[in-house]
Amino acid sequence: MIIAFLNQKGGVGKTTLAINVAARLAGLGHRVLLIDADKQASATTWASLRDDAPFQVVSMARPNMARDALKMAESYTHTIIDGPPHAEEIARSCIVASDFVVLPIEPSGLSTWASDLTVRQVREAQDLKPSLKCGFVVSRKIRKTVIGRDIRKMAGEAGIPILKSEIEQRVGFAESLTMGRTIYEWAGGKAAAAEISQLTDEIARHVEENIHGRAKTKATVKR
Ligand SMILES: Nc1ncnc2c1ncn2[C@@H]1O[C@H](COP(=O)(O)OP(=O)(O)OP(=O)(O)O)[C@@H](O)[C@H]1O
Ligand SMILES: [Mg+2]
Repeated sequence: MIIAFLNQKGGVGKTTLAINVAARLAGLGHRVLLIDADKQASATTWASLRDDAPFQVVSMARPNMARDALKMAESYTHTIIDGPPHAEEIARSCIVASDFVVLPIEPSGLSTWASDLTVRQVREAQDLKPSLKCGFVVSRKIRKTVIGRDIRKMAGEAGIPILKSEIEQRVGFAESLTMGRTIYEWAGGKAAAAEISQLTDEIARHVEENIHGRAKTKATVKR
């Protein structure tokens, strides 16, 4: 499966989630590729801090990267794409290459994300490729704040499902990445790691259901 973490907004946790979800999948024994589609190259820099990354990281921040990404992904069980902080051609390429687009959103502040360009780009892509799935994930949630019905209602209005898993604001996420580690390799990162595992498994379930659903539809059509 190919999963992209995308949001035109900066600092919402795309790179943090991409690296750690890749780590979870690698930890499960899968062959994982992480494509760094951001010119800032945060994921590539993270990988350069170590020589034993649990998954392959390649930098591929160009507008027409979809074809190359798909070709490379053939050699891996799972490919994760860390998207750029803008909604330009590269972001579009990331969407085109994906089975599932995860849109990390911060629950605080003025949440205009439902009408953001990234959401529009994903919806446009779904018109052409109905098998493309997506979901918002609440990222950097401040503990004890209420994310009530509002955020889920807004997500509903955007026509995009919101995943059950939520990622809290936890210092371990920032510290581990700064030191070139994954959250699974970070002492004191247990609760954070559990959130990542839950998120990864939820995404994987959605992708699998989607693939099986399509297979069933095909079988029905054949009959
Ligand atoms: N759940 C979290 N808890 C604590 N810190 C976090 C969390 N998620 C991200 N951060 C920190 O917030 C900053 C931005 O996160 P990150 O780089 O993952 O966002 P991004 O969406 O990839 O940003 P950009 O758009 O610039 O690529 C980083 O310093 C990171 O360590
Ligand atoms: Mg990033």
